[in-house]
Formats: sequence, C-alpha cells, structure tokens
Amino acid sequence: MGQNNSTHQIQFGVFFQGVNFSTIWHWPQSGDQVAFESFRRVAQTAERGRFAAVFVGEGLRLREHLGRLHNLDVAGRPDAQTLDAALAAVTEKIGVVSTQSTTYNDPADLAYRLASLNLLSGGRNAWNIVTTHNAWTGENFRRGGYVSGEDRYRHADAFIQAVKAIWRSWETGTVADSAAADDWSTGIPQHVEVHNEFYDLDVRRTLPITPGGRPVLFQAGDSAEGRDLAAKHADVIFSAHPEFTDATEFAADIARRVEAAGRPAGAVTAFPGSTFVIGDTDAEAREKYREVRLAQITPQTAIAYLEQFWGRDLSEYDPDGPLPELDPAVEVSNETRGSGFQNARAREVAEQWRAQAADNGWSIREFVIHHTARGNDDNGFVGSVQTIADNLQRYADTGIVSGFNITPYLTPTGLDEIVNQLVPELQSRGIYPTEYAGDTLREHLGLSPELP
Ligand SMILES: Cc1cc2nc3c(=O)[nH]c(=O)nc-3n(C[C@H](O)[C@H](O)[C@H](O)COP(=O)(O)O)c2cc1C
Repeated sequence: MGQNNSTHQIQFGVFFQGVNFSTIWHWPQSGDQVAFESFRRVAQTAERGRFAAVFVGEGLRLREHLGRLHNLDVAGRPDAQTLDAALAAVTEKIGVVSTQSTTYNDPADLAYRLASLNLLSGGRNAWNIVTTHNAWTGENFRRGGYVSGEDRYRHADAFIQAVKAIWRSWETGTVADSAAADDWSTGIPQHVEVHNEFYDLDVRRTLPITPGGRPVLFQAGDSAEGRDLAAKHADVIFSAHPEFTDATEFAADIARRVEAAGRPAGAVTAFPGSTFVIGDTDAEAREKYREVRLAQITPQTAIAYLEQFWGRDLSEYDPDGPLPELDPAVEVSNETRGSGFQNARAREVAEQWRAQAADNGWSIREFVIHHTARGNDDNGFVGSVQTIADNLQRYADTGIVSGFNITPYLTPTGLDEIVNQLVPELQSRGIYPTEYAGDTLREHLGLSPELP
C-alpha cells in the first residue's frame, strides 16, 4: 500500500509521563517506575529504533482529592532535566526533551539549565513548554492560588521572550572556549535587559551558544491561547490530536495561527501523543487493548477520576453501576483542587455524561474507560503491524504531523514490539528514518540551525 510514493517521513518520540494513571505498574512484566535502569532501557530501545527523542513529563505534585491521594497513580518519577542529563550520558544520538513549566520556573535559571544540557549533550536537549497552573501545584511554591488561563499564557509569553533574549545574547563563533582566545571575556555578551509586565531582568549569559543554535522548543497545551503561544514560539507541538481527521484539522488550525504570528505556515509541526497496541492480528490487538484499558482504569481509578469532576466524595458509588444522580458541587472559583468542571457548566456537563452513559449502557468504569480514551480506541493505532503501518502511511503521504510521541503503557518493555516489528515495516516503506540525519535533535527533526 502506498509504497515509495510518500513525500514525508514520520518520526517517533517516546513520552514518560509524570504523575499519571495510565502507565500500568501492577502487572508482573512492569518494571521499576523510578529506577534509572528502567529509563535507560527505554531510551536505548528508542535509540535502536531511531526515535528522534525521549520526552520526560513533569509532575510537580501528587494528585489528591478531598485530602485523599490518588494512590493508584504512578508517582515519584524523577525530575525531567536531571533524568534527561543522565539519559544523554548513556545514549549518543537521541534527543532528550525536558518538560518544564513557565509558571513555576525562573527565566534566567531555566535558560541556563536548558542551555547547559544542550551543550553537554551535543545539541540534543529540547524544552517542552507547559504552563501548569493549578492551585494545588502552586502551593508547592508558596504562591498558592489559581493563575487564570489568560494570565498564565501572557506570563508564558513574557517568560519565553526573556529566555530567548538570554539565549540570543552570545553570538556564534566566539572563541571564549578556545585556548587561542586572549581572555575569557572574548565574545562574552552584553547585559540582557528584559522589561515587561512580569519581569525586570538584567542578565549576563554565562554559556556560549550551544550546538545547532538554541534548544528546540516543543509546546504542550491545547487551548486557543496555548496554540497561539506555540504558533509564536515553538518548533513542534506535542499535541493531543492523533486521530487522522482530528490531526488534519489541528494542522490547518496551527498553520493559520502560525501565519498570523508572522511565521511561515510550516514553521511549527505536530507530534501527537499516542499509544500503539500491536497484535498478531487486528482481533488479537483489540483484545489486548481491552486488557490494557481495564488495567489502566481500575474500579478505584474510575471513581477517583469522576470525583475530580464531581468535586465530591463518590467512594460509596459502585464503579459497575450507573453515573451518580447526585449533582456535582458547583465551585465558586474557576477551578479548584478536585474540581475539573467549570462553575455553572458542571451540572450541564454531568447531565450530558449521564445521558451518554445511559445511551451506551455504560457503568461508571466503562464511561471512564471510553471518556479517557479520547478516541484512541478508534484511531488506527490498535491492530496488526500491517494495519498500523497502513494508517501511518496516510500521515506520511499528507505530512499533517512530523511525528508521534508514543506513550507506552508499560515501563520498561513498552517499546519493544514497536521497535522490533513496526519500525522495520515503516522503514521498508520508506516512511521512517533508517539512520539519524545528524548528531543534533534539530537535525533529526529537519529543523535548520538558528539563533533564538
Ligand atoms: C500532550 C500534552 C502533554 C502535557 N504534558 C504535561 C506535563 O508533562 N506536565 C505538565 O505539568 N503539564 C502537561 N501538559 C499540560 C499543559 O501544560 C497545560 O497545563 C494543560 O494542557 C492546560 O492548558 P490548555 O488549557 O492550554 O490545554 C500537557 C498537555 C498536553 C496537551
């Protein structure tokens, strides 16, 4: 199917989620979720499969509801940049992407840390920009409270502008790192002053420009403001839109926003998050997928999930019974700990969910299984190698994504089938790299070297 007539190659990345409920940790084949050995194994398997990058998520605080921890979440994952630094030392080519929040970092400090890892890894580090803003994470930082969506993206914009100004401030070709230099001040930049709504900074950068220019910028955040932020600043969006039609619409939307931001339409591409489940046959893969979903959404996880939206203790409800008739608590603020619903919409959305569950005959657990799949059970990523490759061929033919960020449901063996079975099939179709394009992440992604 479609052999050799495609115009694009697709890339893969692998995503280690931070605190999350979809990595299955209680199966016998699950390994340690915090030990370096697990991460090393995944990263080296990904590199063997010529993946462009390893992504490490950020989970700054454990999830809880009404004082009770979500104790089925995978928690305790190491800090993204620390883990990426360690992974860069045991790999040679693969990019290492660190998810870091603009809300809870400081621009000069983060610019320095990202540039440091980019330098030490030979141009392989990238920043996945997130704007985590929830009140309970804020409590870690004594800032507490809730930053509105609008504010957090205006703030993120000011933050990224500051980071880029700092990165820009040391020209390429300086000799300060060479024995031939007269002194270490050669090429050292002037002060960078940043004055905007959120920052008054006077910085002098301490590191030369890193290989390939600035670190690659990914962005993850799906609201209109989040997309506009990506259109203005990012190279690649870690999107939540893997399904083909959805991915096509997303690509068109982003192209419009990128042009409106004064950049060429193709300047920002998408890397949708996705989970692949491979079987010998399509039927076997579907069976396997069902087992995975049941393991991800245990009865307790289903109740904990619903509680976040209801804003109430639902522990007395039967996970195999219908959705609660009880109405959600209507919060006075936009979003508080334990309430995923927004204000007056809470009852309306709960009503829609009850109707959807009743129409389909879904229990609480079945509802949560379907709701959290977000179309992933119907997107062509569950099947035999041939079926999945046929599906991916469509993306390669149209170029609507530059790659997929695969979230394995198992650590550390979750990539084995993908690398051993799917990658060779894609390579034989000419739609997946057989070798790394160069040494830097920028080269793997086909991005030109550039200053910030
Ligand atoms: C695919 C994807 C991955 C994300 N990964 C993380 C993460 O690892 N850590 C984090 O704190 N937030 C993460 N986020 C959350 C976003 O930064 C953001 O807070 C959230 O999506 C709400 O913003 P929005 O309304 O613009 O979508 C992710 C978002 C998306 C869409």
